[in-house]
Amino acid sequence: MIKKAHSFLLASALLLSIMASPTTIAAMENKGVKGKHDSGLRDYAKRRVVKVGTAVDVNVLTNEQQYRKVLAREFNSVTPENEMKWEAIEPTRGQLNFTASDQLVNFARRHGQVVRGHTLVWHNQLPQWLTGGNFTNEELEQILHKHIIDVMKHFKGRVQAWDVVNEPFNEDGTLRDSIWLRAMGPDYIAKSLQWAHEADPHAKLYINDYNIEGTGPKSDAMYKLVKDLKERGVPIDGVGFQSHLGIQYGFPENMQQNLQRFTDLGLKVSLTEVDVRMPLPVTDEKLAEQKDYFGRLMDTCLRVKGCESFTVWGFTDAHSWVPGWFTGQGAATPFDESYRPKPAYFALRDELTKRAGRPSSEFWDK
Ligand code: XIL
Repeated sequence: MIKKAHSFLLASALLLSIMASPTTIAAMENKGVKGKHDSGLRDYAKRRVVKVGTAVDVNVLTNEQQYRKVLAREFNSVTPENEMKWEAIEPTRGQLNFTASDQLVNFARRHGQVVRGHTLVWHNQLPQWLTGGNFTNEELEQILHKHIIDVMKHFKGRVQAWDVVNEPFNEDGTLRDSIWLRAMGPDYIAKSLQWAHEADPHAKLYINDYNIEGTGPKSDAMYKLVKDLKERGVPIDGVGFQSHLGIQYGFPENMQQNLQRFTDLGLKVSLTEVDVRMPLPVTDEKLAEQKDYFGRLMDTCLRVKGCESFTVWGFTDAHSWVPGWFTGQGAATPFDESYRPKPAYFALRDELTKRAGRPSSEFWDK
């Protein structure tokens, strides 16, 4: 009897210590970050009926308390930076791994954030078994179909919007040569959207691309594509404008009118991967220029009814893809490497604060 009680106590103590040990992100969040709630961009954005989001690196999310704190305080939408890409979810054929992406989706749920899924159909970050598999066209179509169904079913009801198709165009507006275009022809886009809709009828379905923020051949091609899809009754809810800008390239031409023509088709638009890079080193003048760009981007979104979300591609210069991808450039996000808000941050906040309210939208509540 005594022995039994003893082992029961031991077991309970063990269980308690496991529950209390900070091995999960949820447990770590509770260590020293609760308390007075400071206002963040998300609080200002609420009144403007726009989501303010960021790309998230789940590795950093796990390891840095400051990152979690700022993420929870500032944003009400998150996009996994890499964790939902095909190579991350299915590195080995048939073995789906949702560990990292689920961690983010759970974080988002705990913090009242929506999730933008990124991305199902793309030419990049595909697993080796797929690109080097010598599959027939029919096999590739089946593989893509299965991928979309498997991934979307897994996240059904937990991921509110998906970049179903990413970066389908070349700069001149022709369709980009990719494994999907070669196997299935241009209809890979419509088919993917259709399958995505079947897998999760409530998810908002997007096509996403870069260098379509202003008018030009690429944005015209996107316009033509989505107009045609709408006319054919293909399920599509919106267009994602990545908005990877640089102060040395100028601000996109006629961005507001450009977004407007898409919303005139009955589509939503979102700025999905905003960053504004600069040639290093950083100077006050460059930061001021960057502030202006961020402010204009937010202003443009707020002026277009139907611009539903504004997502930055990383929120701190400590963890941004820019320096690794664009030699000699960086400092592209609204917070510096020590999580101090930069002028760009205040531009976002000011825009959210100063504009008159827009008509309310039920887009995210459905
Ligand atoms: C980038 C990530 O930020 C990097 O970490 C990764 O090494 C490469 O991909 N357009 C997109 C994003 O749609 O998925 C890309 O993300 C940036 C450009």
